[in-house]
Amino acid sequence: MKLVKSKIEVRAEIARLKSAGARVGLVPTMGYFHEGHLSLMRISRRQADYTVVSLFVNPIQFAPGEDLEGYPRDPERDLDLARKEGVDLLFAPDKKEVYAPNASTFIEETSVSKGLCGQSRPDHFRGVTTVLTKLFNIVTPDLAVFGRKDIQQLMVIRRMVRDLDFPVEIVAGPTVREPDGLALSSRNLYLSKEERRRAPDLYRGLQAAARALAEPGAELAGVLESARREIERNTGGQVEYISAVDNDMAEVKQASDCSYLAAALQLGSTRLIDNVDVNTGDLSN
Ligand code: PAJ
Repeated sequence: MKLVKSKIEVRAEIARLKSAGARVGLVPTMGYFHEGHLSLMRISRRQADYTVVSLFVNPIQFAPGEDLEGYPRDPERDLDLARKEGVDLLFAPDKKEVYAPNASTFIEETSVSKGLCGQSRPDHFRGVTTVLTKLFNIVTPDLAVFGRKDIQQLMVIRRMVRDLDFPVEIVAGPTVREPDGLALSSRNLYLSKEERRRAPDLYRGLQAAARALAEPGAELAGVLESARREIERNTGGQVEYISAVDNDMAEVKQASDCSYLAAALQLGSTRLIDNVDVNTGDLSN
């Protein structure tokens, strides 16, 4: 596996591969790999000839006061795990390689990104779409793989790619969970022992709500309200939102229009997000 820190080197390597006809897959990450990240690398390995993983803790998607400085990092371990997964190239630029000091251009999706997490994190998705535009321009992947754990992020990226004609196929991977149902996240590390014990009740609450919605005559607002109460009671946290949304992440009023139930939970100092896909009935999505 090649470890590359400069854009120019990545471009040279990809140009060489593409002229040989290789199909390139990209898995964008912020590092501190867990099974969720590794599962996306495996998807890329299956669908592409050459897999690039980017590792960059993107400062512009964090608001002041969020966990940018404290974001967990372990580059040595990440290197080792990516190598074991058969990743071909790990692109790990530093901040000044990615952003010019006077960078002043941003890419913003203005609809899908506005609800759910966009309410409390107004500049977050603009940071995500800007860095992904740059990564797509640098790596020029044929496909890029993202997790369903971050369903709004996935849908914002799909919209951006469609609207701006990026020549990249967006592939979605299922949410990887702990045996007790908690979705894997680098941020789970922040949970105290007691919070960790109670955290799976976020997913359990979403699953129960999805089952309740499938009942004939289910009343959406009531289902969401009791799910909110249950999740708060069982976790001891505060539900930031629990919403029924369509594929464009717009809130729906009727159970029959709902594609996903999505929620954010503040548990102590940790913010957790999760979602279930009610269309497929695949509650583990
Ligand atoms: P990060 O949180 O490191 O996540 C990288 C990728 O892993 C994302 O596509 C995310 O959806 C996926 N992922 C995280 N937890 C997962 C889980 N439990 N199961 C399956 N996939 C999971 O998301 C980001 O980084 C950044 O916003 C990024 C897209 C890299 C832009 O900076």
